[in-house]
Amino acid sequence: MLRWIAVVLTLLIYVQAAEDWKGSWFPDAPKTLALEGGETIKTVNGNALPEGDTVKEKKSPSRVAMGIENPDCDDAKHGLAIDFDPYNVTHSTVYMCLEPKSDYKGDYNMDAVITEHMVPSAYVANHKCMNSSIEYAERIPSYGTHRPLWPRYGEYMYVPTQRWLHNSEHGAVIALYHPCANKQQVDELKQIVKECLYRHVITPSQLPNKDRPFALVTWHATLEFSVLQRTIVESFIEKYALKGPEQTHRDGQYDHLLVDPAKVVSTEDDSVLCPKKQRD
Ligand SMILES: *[C@@H]1O[C@H](CO)[C@@H](O)[C@H](O)[C@H]1NC(C)=O
Ligand SMILES: *[C@@H]1O[C@H](CO)[C@@H](O)[C@H](O)[C@H]1NC(C)=O
Repeated sequence: MLRWIAVVLTLLIYVQAAEDWKGSWFPDAPKTLALEGGETIKTVNGNALPEGDTVKEKKSPSRVAMGIENPDCDDAKHGLAIDFDPYNVTHSTVYMCLEPKSDYKGDYNMDAVITEHMVPSAYVANHKCMNSSIEYAERIPSYGTHRPLWPRYGEYMYVPTQRWLHNSEHGAVIALYHPCANKQQVDELKQIVKECLYRHVITPSQLPNKDRPFALVTWHATLEFSVLQRTIVESFIEKYALKGPEQTHRDGQYDHLLVDPAKVVSTEDDSVLCPKKQRD
């Protein structure tokens, strides 16, 4: 009898907590609750995570193997248009600045923000073949379903989210800049990231917004900023790089529009992050 009361109470508490929860669900909200995607800046508290969802994801039997070129699924060459089609005028604008540059010039009064997502250790992200599209609830995702083959490390003319998210799972830092962002700061950001670690992907992206046209993404955390400050970028990399659940420095297979392959900074494992950082 007591046991049943406990179960009912637990359920009630869980339902109440679920309705009150304003943050992200992981990996999905319970079916009855609409997921509120969007731009709220938050630190997600893992205590509110429903146990069942996590376990279900872990046992998912259908995960496509990563890093194996399979023409029926993903060979990093065919079917790329589902994520990014350079021959489609709508897609080809993703790396172009089509808005007033002054809207993206940044604001010194705007604080940089770090958003941490609680990613339970049991969570395993899914791999999806090129025959189905992948969308994200978060404006700038820092975990989630992605393509089986990941980009080679380096700077790209453009690489889609569905690809670079895989690198972050391996511990990489992804640097995103809006195509309208200040060119001098973009160049400086690229330089800082390239000098901090080998495992980086740099790409223009429409995901950063006007307030903060720059973003760094690692598995479970994002940094967004309005105006480039070297120390903030380096500190974020030091704290959040190399934290992905699948640690490997193995380079990727996807190299569409790669413009500058990454060079080793300290070791392939990035044993020293940001060696040029000024330390006192
Ligand atoms: C996509 O292709 C894979 C590999 O061939 C297959 O297992 C899967 O069922 C396909 N999915 C869809 C939605 O067609
Ligand atoms: C181009 O991309 C848009 C947006 O994804 C899509 O709706 C449209 O069908 C594509 N056009 C062609 C010709 O593939």
